[in-house]
Amino acid sequence: MPNWLHCAKQFFVLRLSASRTARSRRRRKMSVRNQNIMPQTLSQERKQPPFGSVKGRIRSFVPKAVLLFVRLFRTGDGKKMWSFLIGKDSGLSFRERLVLVYRFNYISRKVECQHLESEILAFACEVFKLPATVGGCLVEAGCFKGGGTAKLSIVATLSHRELVVCDSFEGIPENREDHGTTLFGGGALFRAGDYRGDLEEVKGNVRDYGEIRVCRFVKGYFEDTLTDFRDSVAAAYIDADLASSTRTCLKYLWPLLAPGGVIFSQDGHLPLVLDVLRDKAFWQSELGCGPPEVIGLGLKKLVWFRKLVTIDAACRRAGVIA
Ligand SMILES: C[S@@+](CC[C@H](N)C(=O)[O-])C[C@H]1O[C@@H](n2cnc3c(N)ncnc32)[C@H](O)[C@@H]1O
Repeated sequence: MPNWLHCAKQFFVLRLSASRTARSRRRRKMSVRNQNIMPQTLSQERKQPPFGSVKGRIRSFVPKAVLLFVRLFRTGDGKKMWSFLIGKDSGLSFRERLVLVYRFNYISRKVECQHLESEILAFACEVFKLPATVGGCLVEAGCFKGGGTAKLSIVATLSHRELVVCDSFEGIPENREDHGTTLFGGGALFRAGDYRGDLEEVKGNVRDYGEIRVCRFVKGYFEDTLTDFRDSVAAAYIDADLASSTRTCLKYLWPLLAPGGVIFSQDGHLPLVLDVLRDKAFWQSELGCGPPEVIGLGLKKLVWFRKLVTIDAACRRAGVIA
């Protein structure tokens, strides 16, 4: 056997036994940790074949960074991430963009999330593009387990803003909303208590994976908490599922939104939420203006709009007219 082939074989055998040892050590550690708290996880552990599947074995040879990039290529999220990575309009350095993408991906693997990474990334891109003249904090309305919160806290840190996280931390409130058929053809019914994420659990996730020092948590139903909210808002990310909750968020956040600021809703696939966004009477009577031009309305799950600056208002602020 040629010498190089012998060396390659030795390397392969050594690598295989090292990864087997590491895997069994990890499994032993996990089972000790899970003994008291997660019996079902333990039994799932036991069901696994001793050395994993062939795919798992191949994966153990591939560096994690390569796996991440393969995944980005494969998923729908990848397209958005690649355009973010190679685009320069965020004002971030390549290293910052790379770290952000890596951290988003890591959070998605660690925390149960109800969004796509590309959705938070689309919001992040708009936040990074906001000029410093658009002052105010970022608001997340509806956070579930805090996966999106952790990601948004990183965005807030990079854009030097505070992140205000509003949620009942009790899940969806009582409601009678039946959204019928969603944009994707399925039904949507949200029961009281769905998507509950306990405040301490959310804080823990943000502490572990995000930047908790830029976060402020506002606990309670939007109907009770947003009424007292007075801070200027640069950008808001609403993911509340219910039309009534979305309406409340718009009613109290729109007046606080700085001119040039943006509001995103992740519920553009829900017919009753679409009705709120299009509801001329609501916009006129509650907010004193017509409905804004919503990007993606009726086409996408993630929809967004900007508070436009009128020429009059801009001139008044600049002191050109009284
Ligand atoms: C679908 S989950 C949010 C998912 C999260 N954005 C994510 O991507 O992981 C909806 C959240 O909205 C919150 N929510 C809905 N209506 C609310 C209301 N009226 N007041 C407070 N929280 C509300 C629920 O508690 C829940 O955490």
